Amino acid sequence: MTQARYSLPSIVLHWTMALAILLAWAGVQMAEMLPRGAGRAFLVGTHALFGLGVLALLLPRILARLLGPSPGAAEGTPDWEARLALAAHLLLYALMVALPLSGVATALTGRAPFDVLGLLTIPNAFAGTGLRRTVKEVHELLANAMLAAVALHVAATLWHAFVRRDDVAARMMPRLGRRATG
Ligand code: HEM
Ligand code: HEM
Repeated sequence: MTQARYSLPSIVLHWTMALAILLAWAGVQMAEMLPRGAGRAFLVGTHALFGLGVLALLLPRILARLLGPSPGAAEGTPDWEARLALAAHLLLYALMVALPLSGVATALTGRAPFDVLGLLTIPNAFAGTGLRRTVKEVHELLANAMLAAVALHVAATLWHAFVRRDDVAARMMPRLGRRATG
């Protein structure tokens, strides 16, 4: 079924998860400015909690997307462009799975059990296997890939809003659509 915008659950989950990703990223950036200690552990734990939140919301997000109504390609969109948009969205989904999982793997290979704000502890079951450095590098690489993919995604939204002037931005920001139609 197609309609002018995404369902309310899809919109709420899109923005909640975008915020969680941003906060996970910002948390670890701030942590890296601090020396080892309680403050740094708190920020790394907060970043992991937001990351685990992204993982937990993925299934509801996918269900909302598959079961709810969703807009097809905007009118007059060439086939190649619709396929590119689909590929970009699938890439974002793949990163939303792989990035938090690689974070869990980083914790599993740590020197000590990884405490997530006293709420749960991830055991360092793979400590001493020599995998720590590689796994952490993969986690960092995926975080950079997420940053690049989101930057392109936001650029595409701005292009739709200000160059194409179609309804694509309004599908995730219904207020924009209401303002445009008066
Ligand atoms: C949206 C999700 C996430 C983002 C954007 C993210 C991002 C990052 C970034 C940029 C780093 C720094 C890497 C480096 O400089 O080497 C990092 C480190 C780390 N992340 Fe994540 N991460 C996410 C989810 C998770 C999750 C779910 C966990 C574990 C449950 C986790 C555990 C870790 C650990 C243990 C480190 C190393 C911290 C340290 O060296 O003290 N991350 N993360
Ligand atoms: C300021 C940041 C963001 C803006 C302005 C934005 C904007 C939008 C817009 C306008 C759409 C509808 C596109 C269409 O129908 O073709 C959309 C869809 C989508 N966005 Fe974003 N977005 C942002 C952040 C993010 C982030 C951080 C992620 C995940 C990493 C993400 C993942 C997706 C996905 C997967 C879709 C496809 C629809 C769905 O399955 O929910 N977005 N976004």
